Amino acid sequence: MTSYHQPVLCQEAAQALVTDPAGVYVDATFGGGGHSRAILARLGPEGQLFGLDQDPDAPLDCLQDARFHPLRGNFRDLGLLLSAQGVSRPHRPSCGLGGLFPPA
Ligand SMILES: C[S@@+](CC[C@H](N)C(=O)[O-])C[C@H]1O[C@@H](n2cnc3c(N)ncnc32)[C@H](O)[C@@H]1O
Repeated sequence: MTSYHQPVLCQEAAQALVTDPAGVYVDATFGGGGHSRAILARLGPEGQLFGLDQDPDAPLDCLQDARFHPLRGNFRDLGLLLSAQGVSRPHRPSCGLGGLFPPA
């Protein structure tokens, strides 16, 4: 955890979100990466996590994990940002409320 932001309900949110350890997930409000860390802890080796934040001060480089893909930008552009990463529509995560999106 960094001092950027103190995440809340971290384990609870990750437990509810990660239903497939090999799934593709997006944390669209990465902040200090607390929720992303908890998600990664629940993913298997084939799981993927995209972490997105628009704030240039959000430390997207704080997670060194091959399954983690940092993206700088606004989540309103999530579709475009994921397409640029090669995430095709059938694999694209579905959207939900909050900052954490489960896979389709
Ligand atoms: C409450 S913090 C997130 C905390 C994070 N889940 C964690 O575990 O540290 C909210 C973050 O959302 C980002 N944010 C807010 N609106 C955004 C948007 N439209 N697109 C991308 N990031 C956004 C902010 O920059 C901030 O870093």
